[in-house]
Formats: sequence, structure tokens, C-alpha cells
Amino acid sequence: PRILVLHGPNLNLLGTREPAIYGHATLADIHSALEARARAAGVALESFQSNHEGELIDRVQAARSQGVAFILLNPGAYTHTSVALRDALAAVEIPFIEIHLSNIHAREAFRRQSYFSDIAIGVICGLGADSYKLALEAALGRLGHN
Ligand code: DQA
Repeated sequence: PRILVLHGPNLNLLGTREPAIYGHATLADIHSALEARARAAGVALESFQSNHEGELIDRVQAARSQGVAFILLNPGAYTHTSVALRDALAAVEIPFIEIHLSNIHAREAFRRQSYFSDIAIGVICGLGADSYKLALEAALGRLGHN
């Protein structure tokens, strides 16, 4: 099976972006840890980051024809704004877990609203890079590859 990890806007800056909120791990650090864990479990894991809403939507649409079995999604600020990205995930019917490094419930009020949580399998937030690792464990379990 194949897992796609999707990262929204500004997550390419991880490591230097507000480290007190988002931590010191870079996107490359996060990807290599996830990729190694997935590979050990016999699963192919690919990561894609974009600052552009339409590119994320295109990637979600492509995932269906590529047979992606599960998506791990950190939509970044699109969490709170993007009906279009939500609709793409609903359209492809690929199960996904919503991930946030920070605890979106402990910050500005506008971050408490997510366009994804009610159609996600689950939501993990506030645990830094561990949010991704724990989401991957859940996905591997669901795929029977843990
Ligand atoms: C984020 C939280 C969002 O509110 C923010 O816009 C991000 C990152 C997180 O991982 O904590 O870009 O999704």
C-alpha cells in the first residue's frame, strides 16, 4: 500500500518558523522519520508540500488514480479556510487523518475552526512532530501493516 503525507502552506519553513510553536524539526526530518517507519512496515510513503491551494487539490485528485490508500494531512492555514481542499478529500474518498504540530485549540480563536475534522478518520494536534508519527502508527494499523 501507499500513504501520502500532504503539507500545506508555510510548512516548508519548519525548523525556522516560530520554533516555540512549531518546534525545531524540519520537513525533511519529519519526512525521513516517517518514510523509514513506513518502509519497515512494508508501506511506501511519499510527502508533498505546497504553498498553493490548487496544487494540493491536484495532488489529492491524483492520489485516487495512483491507488493511495491513506492520507496524512496537515493543511496548515487552509485548515481554517479551504472548502475547496475539503471537497477534494471528500470526492476521492481516501481515508485521512488531520494533523497539526501545534494545539490549534490553545491559540487564536480562528484556529479552532477546521474544515476537515468532521470528515477525517481522526485528528491529532499539539504534539509537535510526534503528531505525524502517531498518525502514521494509526494509519499503518488501519492498513494492517503495523
Ligand atoms: C498548523 C496550525 C495552523 O493553524 C497553521 O496555520 C499552520 C500549521 C499546525 O501544524 O500546527 O500553518 O496546521
